[in-house]
Amino acid sequence: MQPAKGFFLTIEGSEGVGKSTALKFIQDYLTRAEKKFIVTREPGGTDIAEKIRHILLTPNAAETMLPETELLLMFACRMQHVQQVILPALSKGLWVVSDRFVDASFAYQGGGRGIDISRIEFLEKWLLQGLKPDLTLLLDAPVQIGLERAKHRGPEDRIEQEKAAFFEGVRQGYLKRMQQDKKRFRLIDATAPLETVQAELKKILDDIHA
Ligand code: TMP
Repeated sequence: MQPAKGFFLTIEGSEGVGKSTALKFIQDYLTRAEKKFIVTREPGGTDIAEKIRHILLTPNAAETMLPETELLLMFACRMQHVQQVILPALSKGLWVVSDRFVDASFAYQGGGRGIDISRIEFLEKWLLQGLKPDLTLLLDAPVQIGLERAKHRGPEDRIEQEKAAFFEGVRQGYLKRMQQDKKRFRLIDATAPLETVQAELKKILDDIHA
């Protein structure tokens, strides 16, 4: 894959950790700083990927989705997203801010579903060919706090319907992944007051900007 010129920022975390609020803050910051950027998401971000997202997240009482199917569909979405959106934007020198990326597969399908990490690493290597975010913000909170916050958001999608033990696996999956690539990650305590979280985000962005 061609070398990227822009800046690739991803936001990760389990349910109810305040990703949307953080994303809005980052968007406002980049607008004020007059940066050229796009905001995108996974699973999704292209027409085909958004259609696959619908299959991934719609509850289906008639059939259970297998963990392997879930993993492969996540990577199918990602392939479209990388080739159609992320790489073209980076090559034009834009910032790409993505609400989730490959770390989510390690956390949800690895930590949550229990798929062997080596299988996910294989897909990552094959399909992403070394593409990595420049920086990943990991919003972290104890599972019960996150789930309590997420409860107030309306009907749950297929993955949100999972039990606390699944989300504990997701949280640990993220933390493990961070341990393997500490320089790329910034861990943010999502239980801190909003102003504290935003001050931390500002500092991180100021540092990149400098
Ligand atoms: P969100 O857009 O509300 O974050 O929903 C996306 C859901 O998909 C969320 O539950 C996390 C999950 N997900 C995975 O399980 N694996 C992945 O690789 C990605 C990108 C998301």
